[in-house]
Amino acid sequence: MSENILIAVAWPYANAEIHVGNLTGSHLPGDIAARYHRLKGDKVLMITGTDSHGTPVTMSADKLGKPVEEVYKFYHEGFIDLFKQIGITYDLYTTTHSENHFKVSQSIFLALQKNGFLFTRVEPQWFSPGLNRFLPDRYIEGTCYICGTEGARSDQCDACGNVLDPTKLVNPRSKVEGDTSSPELRDTEHYFIDLSKLEPDVKKYLEERSDRLRDTVLGESLRKIEAEGLKPRAITRDLDWGIPVPVSDAGWETKKLYVWFEAVIGYLSAPIEWAQVSGQKDAWRDWWTNPAAKQFHFIGKDNIFFHTSLWPAELMGVGSAFMEIFAGEEIPLILPYDVPANQFMNLEGKKISGSRNWAVWGRDVLTRFDPDAIRYYLTVNMPENKDSDWDWSEFVARNNNELVATWGNLANRVLAFCYKHWEGYVPDVDVSTLREADLALLAVIDNGFNTVGAELEAVRLRSALGEAMKLATAVNQYLDVNAPWSAVKTDREGAGKTVYTALKAIDSLKVLFAPFLPFTCERLHGFFNYETPLFGEQYTETVQDSLGEHTVLRYRNVGQVGNLPYWLPSDLKPGQKLNQPGPLFKKLEESVAVEERARLGK
Ligand code: MF3
Ligand code: ZN
Repeated sequence: MSENILIAVAWPYANAEIHVGNLTGSHLPGDIAARYHRLKGDKVLMITGTDSHGTPVTMSADKLGKPVEEVYKFYHEGFIDLFKQIGITYDLYTTTHSENHFKVSQSIFLALQKNGFLFTRVEPQWFSPGLNRFLPDRYIEGTCYICGTEGARSDQCDACGNVLDPTKLVNPRSKVEGDTSSPELRDTEHYFIDLSKLEPDVKKYLEERSDRLRDTVLGESLRKIEAEGLKPRAITRDLDWGIPVPVSDAGWETKKLYVWFEAVIGYLSAPIEWAQVSGQKDAWRDWWTNPAAKQFHFIGKDNIFFHTSLWPAELMGVGSAFMEIFAGEEIPLILPYDVPANQFMNLEGKKISGSRNWAVWGRDVLTRFDPDAIRYYLTVNMPENKDSDWDWSEFVARNNNELVATWGNLANRVLAFCYKHWEGYVPDVDVSTLREADLALLAVIDNGFNTVGAELEAVRLRSALGEAMKLATAVNQYLDVNAPWSAVKTDREGAGKTVYTALKAIDSLKVLFAPFLPFTCERLHGFFNYETPLFGEQYTETVQDSLGEHTVLRYRNVGQVGNLPYWLPSDLKPGQKLNQPGPLFKKLEESVAVEERARLGK
């Protein structure tokens, strides 16, 4: 049965390039899930975009001495380039700085207001007497009042992961360059969302998903609510850059919606924009007003609270009022199905740090290595349940011993052998004469669609890939026993059965590996000479609106459209014409690890 699957990935801040930790944290697992569900024949919508507002972005612009708009666009274009190169197949990759996102965010605000979940309150906030302005969120650093770590940002502490109350920060200081004045607390009025009113609903929502949510995610969410409860949170800020607060009373012109309040709304606004640019205005409803649709949120652990508490609370608070305000009818929006948040990836034993260049940058590493080699290592090392480590020696070893030796050589060896000895055709065997060992191997491989599929459904991607690799090993063992390389001289018919069986297994493995290794599996698919490709194409477009224009990345599904889904055992026909095969992967020298390590921290 075909399902409607929304793959929602955390919106990256436009304040730095994307590194391997960001890729393995959210974009790559999201892409693997999206590709799997597309192969299965599900109706997939994978979306996100650049988080273009908030103090991370304005501070980065301040530092560069450039207009925020220019800075956000610079990073935005770079992200799109990276996603194309490494094959992160967003149906729409957009930005929060769009007219559509402004409108949808403001409608959510108004719906929450209508339903009585917003209130205003005058509260003290940090203010710089030197600059004569407020210093929200990251403009202030100090000592974390929970764990005591120095250099905590006023809104969130990286060391203990807690979301903080800025006014409680110890020894606060301004992060604006040249601002030597001591921050002081001054009163300012803001809108708050009353999370305490929504707490019972959020708790219930999490409890209902307690079997599905990873333990790390549930711990961060439910157990925290049980311990501390949900408190009202300010959803506006004293800032110039961002989405205007949709109220006409005086005093609000200088304030904007809080970046986290509106960025999560992107999960709703992006599908709406996707529907508009696809010329099917209402198509977004398939993932938003259909109770059977499943929404997955791929995020890093520092984003958990916002996705398991704030965002569901916003959705529960709007009820059907959003649709009333936005489309003139009363329909409730659905709630997220799963939030498979990942932990962090370190680098050579140390925390990744962009500012110290202790990072492997996505676009840079792609100038030296193939996308599937990177995707492979990022998947076998994905920090699904605990922090993991990118280690260059391990990168080389796993590339050579697993990707090349177990899988790549298997495919290349059998295809090249067949191409040579059967003159470019699959051996024309009578399938009713296949031997017990042939049928046994094919049964094991066919069952892989269940076992690998079950792991993918549950978003256990490391295990899914490990399972597929085990099946490749089983084919290697079968070939060791049946050795067609020598049998071809003495028993051509038997060798033909072995080669046919192995090719059929490889053709199936191609699909099982495809969500993880899409570039090489597509090439392999081409060696088998199939007409329609496994996957579609990525392309960019420019969208014009009242805020100007922005580039979007899109995906055109030219794969199995109109045909049977691909997530099925191979139906390889005896006698089928093949195309000239070639190696899929490259073996790497040991020296690569030394060279790559030498680049770090410079
Ligand atoms: N920009 C945030 C980060 O990079 C993530 C925002 S996710 C969203 O950590 F849902 F709020 F958009
Ligand atoms: Zn802390």
